[in-house]
Amino acid sequence: MEWKNEFTRTLGITYPLIQAPMLGITTPAMVAAVSNSGGLGSLPVGGLPPEKVTALIREVKALTQQPFEVNLFTYEPPLHPDRKTFDDMQEFLQRLYRANGLTVTPVNFEEIPYYSWRDQLPVLISAGIKYVSFTFGMPDAAGFALLKQHHIYLMGTATSAEEAEVLKAAGVDAIIAQGIEAGGHRGSFLPGELPQTGIMALLPQVVDRVRIPVIAAGGIMDGRGVVAAKMLGASAVQTGSIYLRAHESAATPPHKAALAGITDTDTLLTRAFSGRWARGIRNTLITEVAASGLPVNDYPYQNALTQPVRTIARELDNPAFIAMWAGQAAGKARAWSTADIFAELVRETALLLG
Ligand SMILES: Cc1cc2nc3c(=O)[nH]c(=O)nc-3n(C[C@H](O)[C@H](O)[C@H](O)COP(=O)(O)O)c2cc1C
Repeated sequence: MEWKNEFTRTLGITYPLIQAPMLGITTPAMVAAVSNSGGLGSLPVGGLPPEKVTALIREVKALTQQPFEVNLFTYEPPLHPDRKTFDDMQEFLQRLYRANGLTVTPVNFEEIPYYSWRDQLPVLISAGIKYVSFTFGMPDAAGFALLKQHHIYLMGTATSAEEAEVLKAAGVDAIIAQGIEAGGHRGSFLPGELPQTGIMALLPQVVDRVRIPVIAAGGIMDGRGVVAAKMLGASAVQTGSIYLRAHESAATPPHKAALAGITDTDTLLTRAFSGRWARGIRNTLITEVAASGLPVNDYPYQNALTQPVRTIARELDNPAFIAMWAGQAAGKARAWSTADIFAELVRETALLLG
């Protein structure tokens, strides 16, 4: 496949195809499989403790000598979370769990752990990481300065043309334009209404405004999507849902089973699991939290509240309480090895590009 550009040359990769970071799903083996195939693997570490970040980077490095990126949540948690919102939601969730035959230990508001990207940066720097992407905002000026001082290539996530301009002004090297089709969390970070632009409309507007490499993300599941993104001005594409059922994916068996049967209308945007908007497959927790009419806690408080039930549901293979993130086109995901999924994407794209 002949699609080389400034982005592939800068990163030293063969194909402008990025495996999207997917926290909870992406394993070091998945990252390495894509990087070893000539694409860019992405290791998600958003919110993880620094020692875990160190261990994961070490695991990836043991599996590949090729370039890969590390993905951060550049998020500033609320300074004054609302205690009443937390308590009311906890009471509601406890009733919901009991009604579904689940016993879940309540979460202590005072003991919610949160590891900032600031705690993780020193780990990335000492590990010699050269490529970093981020979502949920961007580093502050000191963070940018530190990353730049170490010559780290920066990719920031934008869900609107305005967010892309803000990221460019702050000094990113490339923009990840994330369309509304995308699975998982929206990277949106500017105040106001949640941007809901589809990738077809978003991509050319971002490309025209920023004039730096733009990576297209959202709903791309085959060569047709890759070539369409190229035509709209993308320098690379980032695909997540395509790998959800991969052999190397850490998705739970119920999540993988649910993906096998979904169509374009089976996912929705919800704040019920984490407090941030994210796209996943409809289930009991999502519909019941919405029906309750209760205000949802901001991230990471809602995330911490639902963490215990997610762990229990994983052990029980209970799809009603697992966060089954998926994009609008995730029904096309195949239960193949990551390397085979990647190779097929390259093959289809090459055929179309002639
Ligand atoms: C299960 C899942 C988890 C995700 N986790 C992250 C993450 O940790 N960091 C991030 O920047 N993006 C995350 N995303 C969003 C992806 O980077 C990307 O925008 C999305 O997968 C593209 O759309 P697609 O799923 O239709 O391919 C996640 C997506 C999914 C499906």
